Amino acid sequence: MDAHETLGQDKPHSARAYDYYLGGKTNYRADREAAAATMRAWPDVMVAARENRHFMHRATRYAAEELGIRQFLDIGTGVPTEPNLYQVAHRYQPSARVVYTDNDPIVLTYARALLTAGPPGHIDYISADVREPEKVLERAAETLDFDQPVALSLIALMHFVVEQPHDVVRTLVGALPSGSVLALSHVTESLDEPGRDASVAAALREYRARGIPVRGDVDQEEMQQFFEGLELLEPGVVPTCDWRPDLDPAATADLHRLPGMISASEAGVWAGVGRKP
Ligand SMILES: C[S@@+](CC[C@H](N)C(=O)[O-])C[C@H]1O[C@@H](n2cnc3c(N)ncnc32)[C@H](O)[C@@H]1O
Repeated sequence: MDAHETLGQDKPHSARAYDYYLGGKTNYRADREAAAATMRAWPDVMVAARENRHFMHRATRYAAEELGIRQFLDIGTGVPTEPNLYQVAHRYQPSARVVYTDNDPIVLTYARALLTAGPPGHIDYISADVREPEKVLERAAETLDFDQPVALSLIALMHFVVEQPHDVVRTLVGALPSGSVLALSHVTESLDEPGRDASVAAALREYRARGIPVRGDVDQEEMQQFFEGLELLEPGVVPTCDWRPDLDPAATADLHRLPGMISASEAGVWAGVGRKP
């Protein structure tokens, strides 16, 4: 099998379409055409994807710099568009260890090929499904020490878990020691402007029509339930653009990142970070 066949570059792939929204280079014509269909349903999707990614950067910086966490478990990694989680964590904690997990073999092929930085043993890639959290934890323990704080990232992932998502998160968080954090973001229809056709709801209908189960009917209250047993850090569950924009080093350089310039409906994704007491 050659690389072209293995990576299926002639067919659209959702993780490469997401890379395209982020301005990455790991996408092909078929991916860009599929991305255009989603953009017709939800023209703000590029802004939303970038805001979601900025949230991941800020939450990772917060964990590494302000809390001194050196271990990161990122589930639902996606194509590692730069800067990726390891690069952000490493900036503030040079000895950071990161375990990347995805259930998509194409994503893991890209991750292995693109994430070559870091000393041996500091980055691992696990092919696993978050719906089997015990397996993820068992494999992650080969690289991470679960007696020391871990930053768990479930970024733009849990909307793909349509059955018992809270149980999955409870199991994962239950394995983390005191001082660990959970950073979680989740696409939502609840921030859509009422009466507007082009919306998150329309984009998610498109996903379902293509056979990808996805949930968007998650409001702020249900989001808070993901942080059960954790201290929900300020500012709580908010649209991605409103979670600690002060932590973004590019904020002053990039006009698009000035606080207040992105509306909640453009962001389209809830975000929060909780700390285990
Ligand atoms: C929208 S991307 C998010 C990528 C990255 N976390 C970010 O926010 O920039 C969602 C990723 O979750 C992965 N994914 C979806 N369902 C999954 C599951 N059940 N277990 C593990 N990964 C999953 C997909 O393959 C995809 O790479």
